[in-house]
Amino acid sequence: AESDGSLAASRCATAVANSNIALIKYWGKADERLIIPRASSLSLTLDGLSTSTTVQFGASDADSLTIDGTTQQGTALNRVSAFLDIIREKAGINLPARVTSANTVPYGAGLASSASAFAALAGAACEAAGLDATPRELSRLARRGSGSACRSIFGGLVKWNAGHDDESSYAEPVDSGDMDLAVIVVLISGEKKPISSREAMRRTVVTSPLYDAWIDSCQDDLDAALAAIRQGDVERFGELTEANSFGMHASMMASRPAVLYWLPETVSALNAVTSIRDGGLGAWSTMDAGPNVKVLTDGRDAERVADELRNRLPDCEVQIHRPGDGLRFVR
Ligand code: DP6
Repeated sequence: AESDGSLAASRCATAVANSNIALIKYWGKADERLIIPRASSLSLTLDGLSTSTTVQFGASDADSLTIDGTTQQGTALNRVSAFLDIIREKAGINLPARVTSANTVPYGAGLASSASAFAALAGAACEAAGLDATPRELSRLARRGSGSACRSIFGGLVKWNAGHDDESSYAEPVDSGDMDLAVIVVLISGEKKPISSREAMRRTVVTSPLYDAWIDSCQDDLDAALAAIRQGDVERFGELTEANSFGMHASMMASRPAVLYWLPETVSALNAVTSIRDGGLGAWSTMDAGPNVKVLTDGRDAERVADELRNRLPDCEVQIHRPGDGLRFVR
């Protein structure tokens, strides 16, 4: 009975990962199957936006997935099964898995991300499968589930080295010195995404005449951002963040047909950020594959910037997020 117990224990594990927001973006793949990006990217892992995932091998007849209490079928389950196949093959096990996941923000609100989801899944599945993976190996594995997930293995500022193959494409932490950063999320309510980020980035790469110009600017943006971080220059870092995001969205909008995530309230929020900056407070916008606007600020200005945003955008929910930790195992 005792050996059964330890066997069962080794087949079940829980891990928690925080989401991350890219400040120099990942958009477009060089290899679709391995998820190798066209350019390196830089992100901040945030507190308060996390996924907790439990994986149990051998407890069910087939793979199953429950997110926030709702059983998932179809695309979501297939994507998790395909990801688990990579781990099963590495571990040499052939058992179905029961995956149970809970987000601190409601799934579908536009904030629960594939980054925290696949980082937590990679951690829990490796641990449950008895694989002893280093953080770098976990990052490479999480990347196979969703590119941005490789960055959520680590806390704080994180760089994803694009690399050129499975081995060389992984994330690693970046020393933030004494920089104190915060990201304010402005929630723009909207319907479900018109198009998934996966499909949208494929369309941008294939059809947008502006894509190559943007991707060519990414390495320079990244190098300049890393230099600004070393110098503790939040303003320069913020300017690069905002410019890189607008460039990405411009390239999306030039796709055929256009990829447009913006809603009218999105434009109001972007203009609010400019006007707060004109008033002398440091605030810089960035956006991902959805209508929400995220605002980078010096941590010491976060409360004041959030108040200014609330005054200008009375219909939006505004939340401050501070830097968060990397992947953690629950034992
Ligand atoms: C706009 O990581 O969700 O958030 O690799 O296809 O799963 P897949 O894409 P995903 O894309 C994230 C794109 C982004 C920018 C970023 O996080 O760098």
